[in-house]
Parts: sequence; C-alpha cells; structure tokens
Amino acid sequence: MKKLHGIELGAGTAAFLDAPQRMMIGGQRVEAVSGETLPVIDPASGEVFCRVPAGDAADIDRAVAAARQAFEAGEWSRMRPVDRERLLLRLADLLEANAQEMAELEAIDNGKPVTMARHVDVALSIDFLRYMAGWATKIEGSTMEVSVPLVRDREFFGFTRREPVGVVGAIIPWNFPLLMAAWKVGPALASGCTMVLKPAEETPLTALRFAELVQEAGYPPGVLNVVTGLGHTAGAALASHKGIEKVAFTGSTEIGKLVGKAALDNMTRVSLELGGKSPVIVLDDADPAVAAAGAAQAIFFNQGQVCTAGSRLYVHRSRFDEVVEQLSGIAAGMKIGPGIDPGTQIGPLVSAVQQQRVLGYIDSGLGEGARAVAGGTAADGMGYFVRPTVLVDTRDDMRVVREEIFGPVVVAMPYADLDEVARRANDTPYGLAASIWSNDLSRVHRLIPKIKAGTVWVNCHNILDNAMPFGGYKQSGIGREMGRAVLDLYTESKSVVMML
Ligand code: NAI
Ligand code: MG
Repeated sequence: MKKLHGIELGAGTAAFLDAPQRMMIGGQRVEAVSGETLPVIDPASGEVFCRVPAGDAADIDRAVAAARQAFEAGEWSRMRPVDRERLLLRLADLLEANAQEMAELEAIDNGKPVTMARHVDVALSIDFLRYMAGWATKIEGSTMEVSVPLVRDREFFGFTRREPVGVVGAIIPWNFPLLMAAWKVGPALASGCTMVLKPAEETPLTALRFAELVQEAGYPPGVLNVVTGLGHTAGAALASHKGIEKVAFTGSTEIGKLVGKAALDNMTRVSLELGGKSPVIVLDDADPAVAAAGAAQAIFFNQGQVCTAGSRLYVHRSRFDEVVEQLSGIAAGMKIGPGIDPGTQIGPLVSAVQQQRVLGYIDSGLGEGARAVAGGTAADGMGYFVRPTVLVDTRDDMRVVREEIFGPVVVAMPYADLDEVARRANDTPYGLAASIWSNDLSRVHRLIPKIKAGTVWVNCHNILDNAMPFGGYKQSGIGREMGRAVLDLYTESKSVVMML
C-alpha cells in the first residue's frame, strides 16, 4: 500500500510509479541514448517522486526513424480504415479500464484535483478517441467534372484522395497532459499517420502509460513513439526534424512561434494551439449569482492553467459590485489541497516556476494600483499553491490585463455599453475564446460576430465538444483541432486527373 499526502494510491498507480520509467520507441521501452534522466516533481510538496529519461536529439532521431518505418513499410501502412477504427476503439476501452490510475497519475504529476482529472481529462480523452475512431472510415475525397480547353475529343475524370500526411511530431503542454496527447494521437491514428509525441517535461507520466496502452491495444511497433525530454533539446529537435511531415504544437505563443518557424524551414505542416486572455462578458440582465459562479469556474478550473481561462471579467457597471462580491466569496471559500485528495477544489500550480510567474503577475498588478478582493498570495505549505485571486481597480494597459497569467487570477472591470465592451474584449493580441452571460438573445447575437475569438460560449465557459472545431484567432494559433476540421491537419489532398 502506497500513500501520498495521506491518500492511498490505487494498485496500478503504485506499480507504475515503482517501476523504472522508460520511453516508447519502435514498440520498445527504452532509456535515453545519453542515459540521462529528469526528475518528476510532486507540485503539492515540491519533492521528486520519480525520474524519466531525458531524451534529446539522438532519441528523437531514433523515434522518427521508427515512425517512418511504420508509416512506409509496416503492417500499419496497409491497414484498412475499419481496422484503424477498431484499434482506436480498443485503445479507448483500455483507457477506460485504467481510468482511475490515469486520473491519479495526472493528479500527482500535474497537481490538479483527482476528481477533475477523472471526470474531465480522462473522460474527455476516452470520448475523443471514440469520436475520432468513427472518422477513420469516413475520410473522403470528391469527384470533379474536368473542363479541358484544348483536348476536346477526349474525356477526363478528376478526383481527390485524402492521404495521411505522414509522420507527425506532437509537442504538448503540462496543463492537460493526457487530453492534449489524445487530441494529437486521435486524429493522427484515425487518418493513418504515425507519430512521435513529446510530453512536457513537467508532466511526462500519463503519456508514458498511454504509450503502453497503445502497444497493449495491438498497434504495430513504431506507430506511436513517446520521447520524454526538455523543450529546448527534445522539443526543438522534433520541431526542426527533416524526417517528419507535420508538427502539432500546444503551448505558449512564444514557443509556438519558434516551432512554427522551425517547421516552415522544412515546409513541415504545422498547427499551433497557443495562449489566450479570454474575456467573460456579463450583460446587465444576467443573474449576478449565475454570472459569479460561471466566472469562478471560468478562471479557477484547473487552477487557471487553461488556454481558454476566463481571465478578464467585464461586468456591466450596474451589476459590477454584486458580481465581484459573490465571485470573491466563492474564491475565498475554495478548498485548497493536494490534487490527489478527492476533497480538493484548488490544487497547486504545476511547478515552482509557474507559481513564481503567477505571483510575479499579482505583485505587478498590485504595484500598479490594483487591489486584491480575494487571494493575492501563495497559500501555506511546501507545494506550489496560489490562492484564487480576484483583482479590481485595474487599468486596460496593466500587464495583468494584457498578458496571459496562466494561474487562478482574474481581473474584474466594469463597463458601460456593448460597443465599449466589445472593443475592450478584442483589445488583446489573443483570440482563443470568450463567454457572454445574458438571456437577451438579440444583444447576444449582435455581440457574437463582434468578438474575435475561435470559440464564443453563451451562459457557459470552457465547454468543449469533440464535434466543435477548437482553435484561435490572432496570436492564439493556427488551425482548428477536433470536429471534422481536424482531419485537414492530418491529411494531404491529392488531385488526380485521368484522360480516359
Ligand atoms: P512552453 O510553450 O515552453 O511548453 C510547451 C511545450 O513546448 C512543452 O512540451 C515544452 O517542452 C515544449 N518546448 C519548450 N521549448 C521548446 C522549443 N524551443 N522547441 C520545441 N518545443 C519546446 O510553455 P511553458 O514554458 O511550460 O509555460 C509558459 C507559459 O506558456 C505559461 O505560463 C502559459 O502562459 C503558456 N502556456 C500555454 C498553454 C496553452 O495551453 N495554451 C500550455 C502551457 C503553457
Ligand atoms: Mg517554456
């Protein structure tokens, strides 16, 4: 029996943590070529609880070669769509059978509340793999009537094929480690690609366990390879690798630009899902209690480490005090604790670096004249905790209003009319998401087209669906994941013209 923070871990979780961690390359569990390892830290205590291989360029080379071999020559390259569907369904079933273990690993590794890990991260990953399994048999081309000006006496036939793009390099962040892996693996495997996945150095564990489940499901070796390692070594080697056809990246806008430039040099296809500073807009007809609860969920879910976090709250001035007071009450009442404790509502941030970054933002806001009506400090204990924080008296030019904080910190601001709030909501380099809180259909519909964001929620926030394309306007990224749209990212279109 293994305990962490007084909570007994499941047998599967304990066994996984006790075994030496290995990467997955060509179906083999391997150490890094260099033999080096990286520590994995429990963010609720700051203690190292296991180590993973520190893969670098040499490991990326091996993994790309294995993925290339599987893509070109192996059993996978000849597999029927219906068999790709069956394998993805089997993988989803295995994930479901191991759901509690996955949730515990995620909670320990990332710090997030285990209940959220189970019912959000793991549950959504299972659903998404099943959703993508269905697409394996529904990837279609078109037929065209061809008009040829010179050759009038012959008939022509034109059609398009959708072909897998090839070897995919996926680089993912630490905020939803398993779910971000699923978002890349699902469409890649549905469309017949092979891949190399590099999880974030802060949270490598569920990707390693997931790679074992992929082998257990019966995927041929080399279809999914996982290399753990740092961003500027393993990540950079993958993004700039000449042997891959596509890079799928989720993470910061800063690194996304580097990855995009590296990819462009090789003309590698690239999709980028980056940061955000999403507005939550409360109209004057909204119920203040509903709006406050919604705003709390929008910013405090996952400790605010969400690309779509509702980090700027705009409330009509007639409702401002009421909404802010209720929001502050919710913030102050949230139970802070280690993620593995089922009673925890707010876990630690993922790392000491992230905690310092978030506290630094709070201090910069306070230094410029903002006031914390809830939180504003680290919570007690050794872990990387930050109290749920509500800042008021902010100005639109402050860093806390302009930059992505990626922590449980919201800036709340009053506004006077709809044109003003639309302008201020769009006054950001980002464009990932927004939410509008109102039951006035006409005003809501007038506002929706004005908001420059890839997703607009009405009377909800952070609701994702497999069928809904997801991605950003402006500096929030390039491309749309999920839904039918994601297939465009993982396939090439080939036009065929035949003279009959
Ligand atoms: P990051 O963008 O550095 O990390 C994301 C992934 O990129 C990780 O797997 C990392 O190893 C990899 N990476 C780092 N440098 C790389 C490079 N030179 N080439 C290729 N891959 C590289 O994000 P980080 O530093 O962990 O967080 C910084 C800020 O980024 C956060 O405070 C937050 O604002 C934002 N962020 C946004 C995320 C989102 O979902 N949109 C996720 C994570 C962070
Ligand atoms: Mg970084």
